Amino acid sequence: MEPVQSVELVVPLSVVCAMIALGAQRSSTISLEEVYEGYQADPAFDHLSSTYRFVPGIGNTDADVLFVGEAPGKTEDTMGVPFVGPAGDILEEMLEEVFPDIANLPGIYLTNVLKYRPGERNRDPHVSEIQASIPYLTQEINEVNPYLIVLLGRIPTRTFYPGEVFKNIRGKVLDRRGRKVLVTYHPAAILYHRDKLPEYQEHFAKIGEIVADHRLAGATQGP
Ligand code: URA
Repeated sequence: MEPVQSVELVVPLSVVCAMIALGAQRSSTISLEEVYEGYQADPAFDHLSSTYRFVPGIGNTDADVLFVGEAPGKTEDTMGVPFVGPAGDILEEMLEEVFPDIANLPGIYLTNVLKYRPGERNRDPHVSEIQASIPYLTQEINEVNPYLIVLLGRIPTRTFYPGEVFKNIRGKVLDRRGRKVLVTYHPAAILYHRDKLPEYQEHFAKIGEIVADHRLAGATQGP
């Protein structure tokens, strides 16, 4: 699939290093390419696709950790790549802190609930836009098959857990359909509220712990 190569020029180094697609055997019947074709052809997004660029997920298509953001911002719309603007810089800093040795970086995939910029003022996605995006996001997750999903902020959290209050599950690691899910802040929240940084660091430390535990479990498994 195209994005992995064409993006190497614009995505931060640490993230690029986690983007080696392993070409693993998959159990799902639909490819990521087909998921994204379906999204772009869906009339539910006609009001956005006439103005904004489609921004697919990017990264290691066999990733261990999949991050779900809200929707592309201005820079992402210009580049056609998720998390390449200021929010992406924060995300990269956090990952570098937890995985200072690039060789230890787990496979990472970055995507958004809504795959078009929602408007010039980056409004919250409408409920109808979220609802229309869910089947594609589900297919995307099934195809990448990560063992950890990180929900960045209220919108992805509401998408996964509509009945929950964000602050009640923030920082928690939940079990969902055989995967772990960590709920945390959107990186843009840290840009504007630096006081949340220590808590954010704690959340990212949990990512490091889950990855380490998973590796250990894999290493100690018998044949
Ligand atoms: N914010 C998001 O939620 N996603 C992006 O891709 C960029 C900023």
